[in-house]
Parts: sequence; structure tokens; C-alpha cells
Amino acid sequence: EKGGYEHFMLKEIYEQPQAIRDTFRGRMLVDQGLIKMAGIDDHIDKFLNARRILIVACGTSWHAGLVAEYIFEDLARIPVEVEYASEFRYRNPVIDKDDILIAISQSGETADTMAAIKMAKDKGAFVFGVCNVVGSSISREAHAGAYTHAGPEIGVASTKAFTTQITVLTLIALQLAKKKGKISTSDFHRYLQELDAIPEKVEKALSSNDHIEKIAAIYKDAPNCLYLGRGFNFPVALEGALKLKEISYIHAEGYPAAEMKHGPIALIDEQMPVVVIATRKGHYEKVVSNIQEIKSRSGKIIGIVTEGDVDVHDLADHVIEVPDTIEFMTPLLTTIPLQLLSYHIAVMLGKNVDQPRNLAKSVTVE
Ligand code: F6R
Repeated sequence: EKGGYEHFMLKEIYEQPQAIRDTFRGRMLVDQGLIKMAGIDDHIDKFLNARRILIVACGTSWHAGLVAEYIFEDLARIPVEVEYASEFRYRNPVIDKDDILIAISQSGETADTMAAIKMAKDKGAFVFGVCNVVGSSISREAHAGAYTHAGPEIGVASTKAFTTQITVLTLIALQLAKKKGKISTSDFHRYLQELDAIPEKVEKALSSNDHIEKIAAIYKDAPNCLYLGRGFNFPVALEGALKLKEISYIHAEGYPAAEMKHGPIALIDEQMPVVVIATRKGHYEKVVSNIQEIKSRSGKIIGIVTEGDVDVHDLADHVIEVPDTIEFMTPLLTTIPLQLLSYHIAVMLGKNVDQPRNLAKSVTVE
């Protein structure tokens, strides 16, 4: 059942190239330069006239929502707000019939996300579900939706659900950007081609597994760990920290790299591993200067960099390379080494990787 892998989590990490491919198959017609998604196309006027998009979710799905916020605003120029479902539902939010609420949920059963949907529906908003489990409660409650085609995710720590959620949300952003005339036809085609190449690049990112395992052995006993990223990769930093906490029980925090100087930098000493996402696209020079700040306080730096990187190589204690891609697609690649790093640390510490203590795969209580 684990297909020769020691844990479901590792199997699911390795399934990502195929899961991403399955998610865009039939929806992205690269040769014709088209995206076809019934859930969007059937309601295109609603989307084109939406005043804003609200995204609600919990946990890892909320992180996918944050990545989507950056992509939607950048490409489609639609205002987006992302909120924890548990906060949204209890704070008397302003919602009206020109709003679209996108609920993201792997299981489709998360109680807080479900309650947020019901509230938004009552106030007249159009509700769109991004779920993995077919026929789940949230997918049935939504007015429309698009499934991720990740296949069953058994490991409690979400991996392939996250990257396929980002894939679906990227397709939606591209479709809306095109229909709204916010991107040129040539850029649209270029983006489709690049998305088509992502599964192969994920494969390449996975090939650093042995190198990542060695880094895991060095830091497995650290009591704390920081994750930093900027732009599209700020939510990836949050997700990297969540993966480490939930399966290894090491305290970890994700931060936007530039926020370091507003407090967290006080934590840096020679005991503190800092994982910094520093791909060449996306505020590279700024991230390099953030790395210098950490270095000068003796923090240990693990850089997630673009293949062939030189600057971070010179500064960091370790680097893990991912293939080059278009900036807004980098989260699909930078996430991979962070999943593997957490996985190996948890295994080395003898933790129950697939079923971490205190956690359930689907949180059906609020
Ligand atoms: C983290 C994790 C949780 C879920 C969260 C939402 O690895 O699995 O944080 O992401 O409970 O679950 P869904 O997506 O099923 O609504």
C-alpha cells in the first residue's frame, strides 16, 4: 500500500509530479493555448465582475490560499483577502453578493471552513470550493468548484494536497487574467508551457533527497528553527515551518525575511538553523542581504536556491538547489526540499511521521 516507501508521507511527496500533472490534465490545453475549467467557465461573469475574492481555509490549505493571493493579484489584478476560516466565521465580516469566496480544503470536511462557507452563502456570496476528496461536504455545499486530483492523501501532514491546490489556483488565476485582458496572449502561452514543465522540475527537486537527508542529520537536534521567504515564497516559509513542527515537534516559525529585523533577529545565535528561500527570481538581492544579517549573528543558514546560484552559495552553510522557473511558480518547487527536510528530521528523531501526536487528518470539530 505504501508502494515500497517507508511512510505514506514520503510516498505522497514523491507522487507530486504525477499529482500535479493529473491536476492540470484535461484543463490545460498547451498546444491550443487554452484553459478549460467548467467550474470557472460556467460562472465566468461572476468572476469577471467580482468586487474581490475572499479565500478561507485552515492550516496548509490556508498557506496555499496565501500563495494564491499573490498570484491572483499579480496576474489577474483582482483584490484578494485570505483568512483563517475559524477567524472569519466569528468576526462579523463584510461580505456581499459581489464577493466570491473560495474555500480550500483537502478533506472537504473541515468544520470551520464549512461554517465559513455557510455564512458567506447566507450573505449572498458566490462560493467556490477547491477540495481534494470527491463528494466531500464542502464540495457539495459550494456553488461551484474545481477538484485537485492529488489522489488519496493518507499522511496527516499535507504534502501533495498543497502543491495541487496551488496548481488549481494558478490555473484559475491564469484563466481570469486572460479573460480580463490582464496578460498578453504570448505571456499566457509561455505560462502554460512553463506550468506543463513543472512536474519534471519537481522530479529534479526530489533528486536532492540524499543531500537533504545529510542536512537533516546535522540539524535534527535543534530545538528551534526559522524559515524565511519573501513574496510568493513567504507562504512557503510558513508551510515549511508547519511541516517541521507537526511531524518532528521541533518549534519552528515562518517569517517574511524582511520582518526579521523587527524582532525575530534577536533569536539568532550559532544554535539557530535558518532556512531561507532565496531563488533567483523574487527579491533575490534583498534576500541575500537578509542572509548577510543572519550570518553576521552566527546563525546557521540553509539556502533554498536556484540551480547554479553563486551568491548564496558563498554565504550559506548549506544550499539546496531547485530548477529555475517563472517567479510565481517557484512555490511549487521550493516546497519540495522543505517537505523532505521535515520528513527526514522526524524519521531520525523516531517520530510517527504519518500519524503525529494530537493531530487528525480531518478536523471535523471546531
Ligand atoms: C497540515 C495539515 C493541516 C490541514 C488543515 C486543513 O499538514 O494537514 O493543517 O491542512 O487541517 O485541512 P483541510 O485541507 O482538509 O481542510
